[in-house]
Amino acid sequence: MSNSEIGLIGLGTMGAALSLNIADKGFDISVFNRTTARTHTFMDQAGILANKITPAETLEDFVASIAAPRAIIIMVPAGEAVDAQIAALRPLLGSGDLIIDAGNANYNDTARRAAEADAAGVPFLGIGVSGGEEGARFGPSIMGGGPKPAWDRVSHILEAIAARYDDTPCATWMGEGGSGHFVKTVHNGIEYADMQMIAEVYGILRDGMGRSAADCAAVFERWNEGPLQSYLIEISGKVSRAHDAKSGNPVLDIILDRAGQKGTGRWTVIEAQHLGAPVPVIEAAVSARNISALLDVRKEGEGLFGASPRPVDLEPDIVESALIAGKIMCYAQGFVLLDLAGRANDWDLPMPDIARVWRDGCIIRSAMLNDMARALTEAPDHNLMFAPYFAKMMEQNAPHLRHVVTTALSHGLSVPALSAALTYFDMMRTARGTANMIQAQRDFFGAHSFERVDAEGAHHGPWGG
Ligand code: 6PG
Repeated sequence: MSNSEIGLIGLGTMGAALSLNIADKGFDISVFNRTTARTHTFMDQAGILANKITPAETLEDFVASIAAPRAIIIMVPAGEAVDAQIAALRPLLGSGDLIIDAGNANYNDTARRAAEADAAGVPFLGIGVSGGEEGARFGPSIMGGGPKPAWDRVSHILEAIAARYDDTPCATWMGEGGSGHFVKTVHNGIEYADMQMIAEVYGILRDGMGRSAADCAAVFERWNEGPLQSYLIEISGKVSRAHDAKSGNPVLDIILDRAGQKGTGRWTVIEAQHLGAPVPVIEAAVSARNISALLDVRKEGEGLFGASPRPVDLEPDIVESALIAGKIMCYAQGFVLLDLAGRANDWDLPMPDIARVWRDGCIIRSAMLNDMARALTEAPDHNLMFAPYFAKMMEQNAPHLRHVVTTALSHGLSVPALSAALTYFDMMRTARGTANMIQAQRDFFGAHSFERVDAEGAHHGPWGG
């Protein structure tokens, strides 16, 4: 029987949740997993939705169970597994059959796969799916990339399973090739920075202000009622509130301070460097994760130099204001990176729609994204910090960012992402910076030339002899 409307390969956490979401929205779906035992467990747990799901034990049966022209989502670990899966599928597919990679692929891989698919005359989509397991099951944010006709073929399914904001589905076609996965990568870079800045203010509350985990929870809960309202602030409150059954202590206090990473934040920084796009807040967040991994070295450092944090005299409201300013700087950098990448790749990225698609479903969803969508509608290629709404917010909040950063630094509290945000703000409002010194040095040692403030053209200094 070939009557499923769509197929999905890879019943890991995300693939299983996405399959149930698709079935729940009324679509018949076929599923396949490399290990059949996993397929059986999945079907056992599917409950009433099992009657919308066709499990297959071989790839051949799986393909045969989907109505042609087929649409097949692959949700396997990013990297070689995706290429292996595509290679295994290809011989079984017809020319109109569509493969959709919904994993966290590196956009360069997606661009290559898209080009290979294009050369073979078969459609391929790379879609970024955000929202974790809960999002995948009940409404993720979806960032699509690849040929528009291919997107149009499956957009009714993707829009049906996506989160909705004001009844608008959080599923959008971003452009050709690897654009969907690029947008998802930048989403993750921003996610790293957002999380790092929250971790930094948590450090100020805990180490500088002596607040308990429960106190921190109360602070995050209050902030979640204001301009910082977001999923990440919400869950920061929840994780601060939770208790460990084994020790009875707050869970936060028993978690080792060594953060994992699968690499998407790093990819954002690498791509930003390729494009010459400044993303210092995201860079600081990625570096902070790397430093967190150096637990033994940090222990040695504390043994040698002593622990640095000392009490600070700050109010939570001022810290909240600092975080607002830091967040605006981080998103401004992310959107500038997207704008540059769109131009470099001829994607014509829909800037306001990117902000819109992130308003719900994804990890970085927040109240502020709606204001960002509005600002980007008026000026899609202008740095968000100059949009009247955000410029006013920076005027109000940047002094508090400065106060919090300088206070934290002078008391030995590490705030790398917030510091990077403040420095970016200061550099971006300084018409005459200090790169004239760099230019003089370059010209001195390499005759690279410099521009003058009072004349056109390339000039050299009087260094010789
Ligand atoms: C999402 C997340 C997700 C990401 C994990 C952890 O949008 O749902 O970004 O895709 O993989 O949250 O990523 P790291 O392991 O790199 O922190």
